[in-house]
Amino acid sequence: MPTFREAWDRALYGPDGFYRRERPAAHFRTSVHASPLFAGAIARLARAVGADQVIDIGAGEGELGQAIKAVDPELAVCEIELDDELPARLNGLVIANEWLDNVPCEVVELDPDGRPRYVLADLSLGDVVEGNDLAWLDKWWPLAEPGDRAEIGITRDEAWAGVLDRLDRGVAVAIDYGHVRAGRPPYGTLTGFRSGRECDPVLDGSCDITAHVALDSLGGTVTTQREALRALGVTASRPGQELARTDPLRYVSELSAAGEAAELLDPSGLGGFGWVWTGTGEDAVRRASRALSA
Ligand SMILES: C[S@@+](CC[C@H](N)C(=O)[O-])C[C@H]1O[C@@H](n2cnc3c(N)ncnc32)[C@H](O)[C@@H]1O
Repeated sequence: MPTFREAWDRALYGPDGFYRRERPAAHFRTSVHASPLFAGAIARLARAVGADQVIDIGAGEGELGQAIKAVDPELAVCEIELDDELPARLNGLVIANEWLDNVPCEVVELDPDGRPRYVLADLSLGDVVEGNDLAWLDKWWPLAEPGDRAEIGITRDEAWAGVLDRLDRGVAVAIDYGHVRAGRPPYGTLTGFRSGRECDPVLDGSCDITAHVALDSLGGTVTTQREALRALGVTASRPGQELARTDPLRYVSELSAAGEAAELLDPSGLGGFGWVWTGTGEDAVRRASRALSA
């Protein structure tokens, strides 16, 4: 019986897997779909760190790139999707929005004897966890009670390290829902999405399967989307009533932008996502830290 991770990998990326057949936007909504204000903020961040290119990893159908081009046509965008080789060297601003939560990881559960064991594809428990997986668990997500579950972040850490290893000059930001050691969810976070609704994470390729990301184990500086976007100038303030009288069209457009900003900044929704960033070179680090702090 394969582990849950092996079956998850096949369900999403196997020959007939979910991501081989389906359009992501038909099944869930990310910050990119929520508002062009998100792309505007990414474009401003790129300029603030001195980048002339955004590299979008896990680009889906390229909606972020299209929205960036609309606000800053001079900014180059390089999209990386499934089966694309990551360029050997990366220069610029790397963005991975909701990529790592789709990188399958081992799911483990503490058995009645207090031993962490792999969860298998049929949800029964397999071998006892050992080696690097056990070391990761001890360091990042220790389990307390029988029945507690964890999602071992090594595959995500490695995927992200593969990006950072290539970063010559610039800043890389992973944006995802996640948690840090001080507040891990006791029963894990495995979820499915199908046609815009949450569903059981069934392993037959019929739905997206995702688990929150252990943000701190990626390495880098962790902040929230709310803090980051506010620092980049996204604000949910509503236009004054006076504008409704003097310029009704502008009033409606500003009101709608304020509503979109509120969704991006909502601390219990997209605003609660983590932004984990790393820069290479003193200049990039200094500029990113200035741009991303309020
Ligand atoms: C949840 S979607 C996010 C799409 C887009 N970034 C957005 O925010 O709307 C995750 C995307 O990551 C892509 N993906 C998964 N593994 C990948 C890999 N190893 N390299 C590049 N893209 C990958 C999937 O094909 C999918 O399009």
